[in-house]
Amino acid sequence: MELHIRHLTHSFALTEVLSDINLDLHAGETLALVGPSGCGKSTLLHIVAGLLRPSEGTLESSFRGIGCMFQQPRLMPWKNVVDNIALGLKGLGIPAGSRRRQGAALALRMGLLERDMDKFPYELSGGMQSRVALARALATRPDLLLLDEPFAALDVGLRHELYGVLREQVRGTGAAVLMITHDLMEAVRLADRLLLMAPHPGRVLREFMVPRLQERRSDDWIYGQTGRLMRIREVRECFGLPLQREEGDHEADPTAADDGGVPGGMDDGVRALTGASANCAAPHGHRGGCVA
Ligand SMILES: Nc1ncnc2c1ncn2[C@@H]1O[C@H](COP(=O)(O)OP(=O)(O)OP(=O)(O)O)[C@@H](O)[C@H]1O
Ligand SMILES: [Mg+2]
Repeated sequence: MELHIRHLTHSFALTEVLSDINLDLHAGETLALVGPSGCGKSTLLHIVAGLLRPSEGTLESSFRGIGCMFQQPRLMPWKNVVDNIALGLKGLGIPAGSRRRQGAALALRMGLLERDMDKFPYELSGGMQSRVALARALATRPDLLLLDEPFAALDVGLRHELYGVLREQVRGTGAAVLMITHDLMEAVRLADRLLLMAPHPGRVLREFMVPRLQERRSDDWIYGQTGRLMRIREVRECFGLPLQREEGDHEADPTAADDGGVPGGMDDGVRALTGASANCAAPHGHRGGCVA
């Protein structure tokens, strides 16, 4: 199963918000979209979800089941926590009792409590609502997960717990994940590839791969790799960060990322996919080429 987007452009009225987007996503792969506010990440996700038709370009997908978590939780106000989570299970023909049991089990995995099960969305905090929305996306065990800033409303402890839940589900189902995050560290932790987007109009500026297996990514390694990314001029410019040119500073070479002292790390650090090398470096036989 795979998704291929070619030369996709989208405009709202006369404003072009996405320009010549190309991307590929394969089963079992996690792709993170990162970029500043307004660069079109959510718009791209809505197009992949089939909620928007692109102005130009092609999108081919062989994924069947899609689970979505949008930037706003979009919970049904008249349904409680369990019923919101179990919403998609009805369409799969799962009986009501079983739907409720699965919904409740997933709610507990999300760190919600027994006493939360019958609450309605207006009775939930923002972080609780986003956990219900994430649980709803996972509930049907889809083969493509579209997640728009799934962890943004959560504290650091919950985030870590839910990273584990997501990883477990992806491992168990072989699902592909297209996720948006503002947090580069989160992207380095969870993704196989990162697409750095720039605004006006939204476009892919650069693509990075993270070849190291997720279970081998220690916190120290993730901090080190994120630090290297944060020193790349394009990344700094893209997020409007001041350029650093102090003594001893150098532009990080993303093709030779530091391994943080972990054996075997030199070969599997974050790496920019550029030009011809993109075509041989990517996992799953993926051919790069969306790199500016
Ligand atoms: N329905 C719409 N009608 C008109 N313009 C829109 C619509 N949705 C989004 N836009 C515009 O498209 C651009 C991209 O918006 P989008 O929500 O995709 O950005 P984003 O990268 O997800 O931003 P953020 O990180 O803040 O969520 C913005 O300039 C926004 O104003
Ligand atoms: Mg958005």
